[in-house]
Amino acid sequence: MSLKTNQKPFFVPDNDNLQPVQDDIKTELEINFTKHKKGETVLSLKNLTKRYGKRVAVDDVSLDVYSGEVFGFLGPNGAGKTTTIRMIAGLASITQGEAFICGHSIKKDFKQAVSLIGGIIENPEMYKHMTGWQNLKYYASLYGNISDEQIMNVVRLVKMENRIHEKVKRYSLGMRQRIGIAQSLLHSPRLLILDEPTNGLDPAGIHEMRDFLKMLAHEYGIAIFISSHILTEMQLMCDRVAIIYKGKLIAIKTVEEWTRPQNNILKIKLSVSPLQKNKAIKVLNSAFGCDIQTNQNLIVFSLPEEQLPKVSLELAAREIGIVSMSLGEKSLEETFLELTSASGTEIS
Ligand SMILES: Nc1ncnc2c1ncn2[C@@H]1O[C@H](COP(=O)(O)OP(=O)(O)OP(=O)(O)O)[C@@H](O)[C@H]1O
Ligand SMILES: [Mg+2]
Repeated sequence: MSLKTNQKPFFVPDNDNLQPVQDDIKTELEINFTKHKKGETVLSLKNLTKRYGKRVAVDDVSLDVYSGEVFGFLGPNGAGKTTTIRMIAGLASITQGEAFICGHSIKKDFKQAVSLIGGIIENPEMYKHMTGWQNLKYYASLYGNISDEQIMNVVRLVKMENRIHEKVKRYSLGMRQRIGIAQSLLHSPRLLILDEPTNGLDPAGIHEMRDFLKMLAHEYGIAIFISSHILTEMQLMCDRVAIIYKGKLIAIKTVEEWTRPQNNILKIKLSVSPLQKNKAIKVLNSAFGCDIQTNQNLIVFSLPEEQLPKVSLELAAREIGIVSMSLGEKSLEETFLELTSASGTEIS
């Protein structure tokens, strides 16, 4: 998010209102950063709606995000991702519905709720003529009571200890993202919100960020809410993915569920020796009566999951050896394209 010198970031807590979060376990590992219990509801959206005049930017969105997970919010341009995030962070008013952070309503209990959030809503804006450390010191001073040791813990967490005393203008975009994340972690938030954080990063930078966010969630129990319009990235980075389209929540599933074939029907691709290919097709046809397609050396067909063992048995009985066999999965991308082209009403 962009900050002017006299502006506080949205997540700066009011110290008087800070209360210890229950059930936290302080650990004395090499990086002294609070570990939170996993599986607790950290973010809860209830019928969240945003209207701009007649346009419904976010339409009745309800979802829960738990500690310890990376939750992907996937949608094409204009789907309503940033608007949702802005409402969660208290940067945009809520037309209807509610957003709760660890049970605290963003509407009714704003300070408490917002003190539990860290985030980068747009590109992290740093003071480029200052070092990474000076930037973090500045943000820490806004919180009031963060020691150098705590800052250093966060620096180590984002693995920037070797470069932290260099000026930000000498950092790569990926390093700036890390400092941005370090900054948003200074007050040990329960929820980290990142709006399209991999924008502009190269594949290596994306890979690094992916591993880092997973580590933060899985090891430290932070709930991470991350938006993107890039399908493959979500598939690799997230534990669960929600698809939002034209303001509406289409579905939420674990990445595994997204890729699991539906209705227990498996798409099987197998190859046999070219000399046995036609024989294999005949055998499979008579055994299963299914529609069989061929693609160069591959024999492609679909079967209920429980019939899978029978495939190798039938072929082996006719002395046909399987050279390779793979089970086709429906990618999040296929699902995403199907859903987005088939659903949703036009938004005026
Ligand atoms: N301040 C505003 N006034 C009017 N309409 C707005 C405003 N902000 C967003 N919108 C509209 O709300 C809808 C959702 O926008 P939003 O920025 O949330 O989408 P997004 O999913 O973040 O898209 P992108 O991937 O392009 O960032 C769009 O139709 C957008 O034009
Ligand atoms: Mg956006």
